[in-house]
Amino acid sequence: MCGIVGFTGKDQAQKILVEGLKRMEYRGYDSAGVALEVASAAGSARLDVIRRVGKVAGLESELEGYKELSTCGIGHTRWATHGRPSTANAHPHVSCDGRIAVVHNGIVENFAELREELTASGHTFRSDTDTEVFAHLIEEAYAKGRDLMAAVRDACGRVVGAYGLAVVCADEPGVIAVARKDSPIVIGRGEKGSYVASDVIALIEATRDVVVLEDGQFAKLTPKGVEYTDAEGNAIEPEVTHVDWDLDMAEKGGYPDFMLKEIHEQPRVVRDTLVGRMTAAGELDIDELGLSLEELNDIDRVFVIACGTSYHAGLIAKNLIESWARIPTEVEAASEFRYRDPIITPTTLVVAVSQSGETADTLAAIRDARIKGAKVFGITNVVGSPVARESDGVIYTKANKEIAVASTKSFIGQVVSLTLLSMLLAQVKYRLTTKQARLLFRELGDTAEQVQHILDTQGAAVREAAEVCRDAHSALFVGRGMGAAIACEGALKLKEISYLHAEAYAAGEMKHGPIALIDPGFPVIAVATKSPTYDKTVSNLMECRARGASIIAVATEGDEDIKKIADHVIYVPRCRDAFSAITASVPLQLLAREVALLRGCDVDQPRNLAKSVTVE
Ligand code: M6R
Repeated sequence: MCGIVGFTGKDQAQKILVEGLKRMEYRGYDSAGVALEVASAAGSARLDVIRRVGKVAGLESELEGYKELSTCGIGHTRWATHGRPSTANAHPHVSCDGRIAVVHNGIVENFAELREELTASGHTFRSDTDTEVFAHLIEEAYAKGRDLMAAVRDACGRVVGAYGLAVVCADEPGVIAVARKDSPIVIGRGEKGSYVASDVIALIEATRDVVVLEDGQFAKLTPKGVEYTDAEGNAIEPEVTHVDWDLDMAEKGGYPDFMLKEIHEQPRVVRDTLVGRMTAAGELDIDELGLSLEELNDIDRVFVIACGTSYHAGLIAKNLIESWARIPTEVEAASEFRYRDPIITPTTLVVAVSQSGETADTLAAIRDARIKGAKVFGITNVVGSPVARESDGVIYTKANKEIAVASTKSFIGQVVSLTLLSMLLAQVKYRLTTKQARLLFRELGDTAEQVQHILDTQGAAVREAAEVCRDAHSALFVGRGMGAAIACEGALKLKEISYLHAEAYAAGEMKHGPIALIDPGFPVIAVATKSPTYDKTVSNLMECRARGASIIAVATEGDEDIKKIADHVIYVPRCRDAFSAITASVPLQLLAREVALLRGCDVDQPRNLAKSVTVE
């Protein structure tokens, strides 16, 4: 989840590195650093390593005073795994003699034994990171007469774990050695030279034609070009991918933060995710299904595995799959699933949901499920991501790049995609006629306008409601059925960006414990849209009100009675209960953001979090 960038060519490297790091800062931002090559004697150079704890802006100000000419360098923005955020633990890490510098995204699982071995043979470690072993391993191999590429290959052969790696060596000026295993690396050639990054967003100003390095591949970047090799050093010719989205798509587009921009993109996400998904004959068209209709018809059990917000999308799917297709469905945190011994047979379908498509626990769970014989279907936002590649079939959520750490538009894309999958399962089980499928599909499409309506009309109501939470110490989110699942996502959004403790409870469970928390002013946020259990939810809210709770209700337009119970009401248009997650989640996203702003929090980059969690 860290960000890596590198450049070698005919321009000031520091400027390019800092720009690239800023664009990737959403991946990790507890420290940042660069290693810049500066020419000294003929054919040789020295490496200047500059690192700072905190955001890239801090590194940028430090570099303002740096006046050396450097046309080759590597940079990194970190999210701590081994070792706390500190200057010593920030990347790049260097060899004992300071002539080799390394930036790394991933994890070295056997770092403790490698560190012990390297220390015993005379290497001095200056950080607590796993990454530093790479610098010393490469130094050892280099000292045996290997060139940089061979030394990197040698080091990678000794490491167990995941890496996206970029390395410079003062004795081979202008060369950046790159390696990849289970951690993304993209490489591109621009007019001014050669670029490497862990995310295409850092490259697209220089080039739109990129190579996505595969596991086990290596690249040697020089100002003149890039040579690709496999693990044995044989030349290979990887495929070039053309990236057709522009920088604007990744910028804020006039909104004060990415989160708000992404919340406002949700009507488009609903539409895009549905485009081309139903044929004129009323059949669902999942082009990358990867499973035959017969195989789907045989499915007798579903596991949805995911983490965080994606897990909550799974809770919505459970409701839909069980009520439409009547297939028993369990939703499980991938981090739990992978260490259990779940009952899986060849007729089990595992649905893996992941925005990034690279969450370590979700990937491990997929691999485990496949070994046990399950069919795996992926729901992801990232084309070609590991989740997409390792699943039998996939639906892409069409949310486009999501920058804010708090997932919003990708959640909506996931819910829409899972709704399609649930409909498909119901169709193959002959529980949904073509006519019913058409109707559902049309109503699902209508939610795009309904979300737009919420965005256009409910801003003031959300802002007023947010005041209730400004100085609170805790909040409860409640609902029943679909509402209970939506409440889970509401609570996660609030806690991750406002640092206000929040918990979600099935409303009917309140009197079995949580109601004891309620004292005057305690915020209770209720999903109280019209549903089969609406009346029951209202009764539960009355019990909270009787104990002095401040109630914020997300309710259906036209429901005037709810105002007698709730202190604040945020209205959403009436829709089928099955689709209520798409509409009712939106006010909760907006509420979380407003509360975070009132509490002075950074809504796009909340503390301690990273956008994609590629370590366990
Ligand atoms: O990329 P993934 O969907 O696999 O990520 C899973 C979680 O890390 C993610 O949803 C996380 O909970 C978000 N920060 C929530 O907003």
